[in-house]
Amino acid sequence: MITYLPGKQPHAREYRMIFQNIDRVDYDPSIDCYLKNGGYEQLKKALKMAPKDITEEVKKSGLRGRGGAGFPTGMKWTFIPPNNTKPVYLICNGDESEPGTFKDRYILHQDPHQLVEGMAIAAFAVGAHTAYIYIREEFPAAAEIVEKAIAEARAKNFVGPNILGSGFDLEIYVHRGAGAYICGEETGLIESLEGKRPYPRIKPPYFPAALGLYMCPTIVNNVESLCHVKHIIERGGDEYAKLGVARNTGTRILCVSGDVKNPGYFEVEVGKLTMRELLYDICGGPKDGRSFKAVIPGGSSSKILRCDETYKIKNPDGTTRDLGFWDIPMDFDSLAACGSMAGSGGVIVIDDSRKISWVLNNLNSFYAHESCGQCTPCREGSMWMKKISDRIVSGDASPKDIETLESVAYQIDGRTICAFGEASSWPVEAIIAKFREELVAETDPANEHKAHNPEAEAQQRFLVTK
Ligand SMILES: Cc1cc2nc3c(=O)[nH]c(=O)nc-3n(C[C@H](O)[C@H](O)[C@H](O)COP(=O)(O)O)c2cc1C
Ligand code: SF4
Repeated sequence: MITYLPGKQPHAREYRMIFQNIDRVDYDPSIDCYLKNGGYEQLKKALKMAPKDITEEVKKSGLRGRGGAGFPTGMKWTFIPPNNTKPVYLICNGDESEPGTFKDRYILHQDPHQLVEGMAIAAFAVGAHTAYIYIREEFPAAAEIVEKAIAEARAKNFVGPNILGSGFDLEIYVHRGAGAYICGEETGLIESLEGKRPYPRIKPPYFPAALGLYMCPTIVNNVESLCHVKHIIERGGDEYAKLGVARNTGTRILCVSGDVKNPGYFEVEVGKLTMRELLYDICGGPKDGRSFKAVIPGGSSSKILRCDETYKIKNPDGTTRDLGFWDIPMDFDSLAACGSMAGSGGVIVIDDSRKISWVLNNLNSFYAHESCGQCTPCREGSMWMKKISDRIVSGDASPKDIETLESVAYQIDGRTICAFGEASSWPVEAIIAKFREELVAETDPANEHKAHNPEAEAQQRFLVTK
């Protein structure tokens, strides 16, 4: 029987697979502990399979990436050009930089061998002999723990030359991140790994599976995604696909933060839980005397949802039906159908004690700080959006500022090298669309005639001249 630390007992609605060993009393990150718990058995099994059959099982499992975009993992692996003669690389994205997301770090700290085993299987499937784990700069302890795990795995020949006599060679290296949000974007990450500034590359042509690290085919997958690979091999793709719901299979770790009674991480079957069940049954509902106002369901880049909304959803037969906010199943397709996304699984809850202008300004401050600066709309626009929301928060904005803010967001969206442009503008677009009245109520038309800063004052520049 598995015993968890006091206060860390999984909720009855959870299905622990990836997080099975997290917060266990009798578990540590050593290889001895991992082996005692059946570790590396799936690698042994996988090494006896044909690499293409492993990819086939991953395809059958329906696994979708847990890093943000929800792209089918098995399909991504097949994008390596068939006539490729260059080395293939596997990269594990351990940057975990999306605000609201806190799951990968627990795997890195408490169960690193689960990741090493998942990576070894994935590397074998895609034909990579060199793999990297890119670990966020802010996780120095995780980097040491994972380095130790790789050394232990190497000593037992689960990593290194001729793994377990299979003829398959694999080296895994830890690469410490450069400490920026954009290092989590896969092409920025690749640049950083090459020793350069993490300036994202333009797609096309730089889709990593074709032109990735050192211009060679590269598979980039999230920590959680790679851990799933081991469980797919254990159960078989078809059996794994029975977890969750159609097209949204398996389990995923939802990280709930913000204004709920019991925030935390919860591994659940994808789509088996509604928003209500997550926030009330698992997270205990709103704090005393408060009510829920809005939820950002998939990390800070996803569009905000109001708790009083109803959505028109398309049925498979082309008809439509109404779906209320509280009944949204927590899966990729349902959240997309409601105009947001499941993203990285970071569910940020906002109650009626928060002004939406504060939320908006908090998000804008983050994105203005993190833009890499390559694209003009993103570099300038993210700062403009922050400046405008600064004014809303300080009571210096005019109603026209809301229009300007909205127009700036739409001029970033779709006009940049990487998806950071959407990550920074979607929250603004959605907050304005859904909370326009609340924002306008915080403005004053008289502010149109005020200068926004000492320089504008000196030059007598105003939004509207009296
Ligand atoms: C601005 C930005 C930041 C991102 N940060 C992360 C991150 O911290 N971790 C992550 O796994 N994916 C992140 N992604 C997504 C990656 O680019 C990539 O899609 C992902 O690592 C692929 O893994 P998956 O298919 O297993 O989800 C980010 C994307 C963008 C646009
Ligand atoms: S969209 Fe922003 S973060 Fe992405 S490349 Fe352009 S400037 Fe950099």
